[in-house]
Amino acid sequence: MGDDWDDLAGWWEAEAASDPAYPADVHPLFHELLPPVRGRTIDLGCGEGQGMRLVRGSVFGVDRSRALARRALRAGPVVVGALPSLAWCRDDTFDLAYAIYLLDLVEDHERFLAETARVVADGGHLITIINHPIYTAPGASPMLDHDGEVLFRWGRYFERGSSFEPAGHRTIEFFHRSLGDLLTSAARAGWALEHMIERGLSETTVDEMPGYAGQQEIPRLLGLRWRRRG
Ligand SMILES: C[S@@+](CC[C@H](N)C(=O)[O-])C[C@H]1O[C@@H](n2cnc3c(N)ncnc32)[C@H](O)[C@@H]1O
Repeated sequence: MGDDWDDLAGWWEAEAASDPAYPADVHPLFHELLPPVRGRTIDLGCGEGQGMRLVRGSVFGVDRSRALARRALRAGPVVVGALPSLAWCRDDTFDLAYAIYLLDLVEDHERFLAETARVVADGGHLITIINHPIYTAPGASPMLDHDGEVLFRWGRYFERGSSFEPAGHRTIEFFHRSLGDLLTSAARAGWALEHMIERGLSETTVDEMPGYAGQQEIPRLLGLRWRRRG
C-alpha cells in the first residue's frame, strides 16, 4: 500500500524547505543530469513542487499525496496517482520523466521502469535521483570507530529488501535493490544508460549538518539518466 504521505505532508514541506542537501547537492546533481532538449516533462513523486520549479517550460507533476499535490499546483498541473502505475497516461506522452527521491520509495522498480518507458517517447529521457543503494541496504550504516574514524557497515546489500527510516513523527519504508539489479532492470525495460553520477554529501551540507562529519567519502546520492531506446 505504501506510506501515508498525506499524514507526512506538513513534515515533508518543512524538510523540502530546510534540508541543506537540496540546494547544495541534490539540485546541482539534477541540473548536471538534465538533457539539453526537454520538451513535455513529468515530475514523478513531485511532492510540494520544488523539482517542478527547477525546470523551464511546462511540467506536469504526479504524487500520491493529495495534500502535497495541492501545494505543487502552484508550479504546474498535477495529477494525484500512485506510482508505479501511470495507467492514466497515454503511450509516448512525454520527452522527459524525472523522479527525485522517489524510486527508493517504490517497491516494484521493474514496473516503474516499464511504465516510464511506455509513457516516454523514443529518444526521450528518464532521470532518477535516489539515496545510493549502498545506503539503503537493510542493516547498512555508518559507524564510528573508537578512534573517531567513520567506517561503513554494508548490511544486506546484494538482496532486495526494505528498511524503515524516521520521518517526522513516523517512519518511511525505503526499498533496496543493488545497483546491478537496478541497471539490469532498466536495460530490460528499454532504457539505455547515458549518465550515472555517484556522490557523497558535500562539505557545504556537512557544515550545516555536523552529525554527518566524516561521511563525505561514503556514496550517498545516485543520479541516473537514461535514453529511451527506439
Ligand atoms: C521524499 S519526497 C520527494 C518529493 C520531491 N520529488 C522532492 O524532491 O522534493 C517523496 C514524494 O513521493 C511521493 N510518493 C511516495 N510514494 C509514491 C508513489 N508510490 N506514487 C506517487 N508518489 C509517491 C510522496 O508523496 C512525496 O511527495
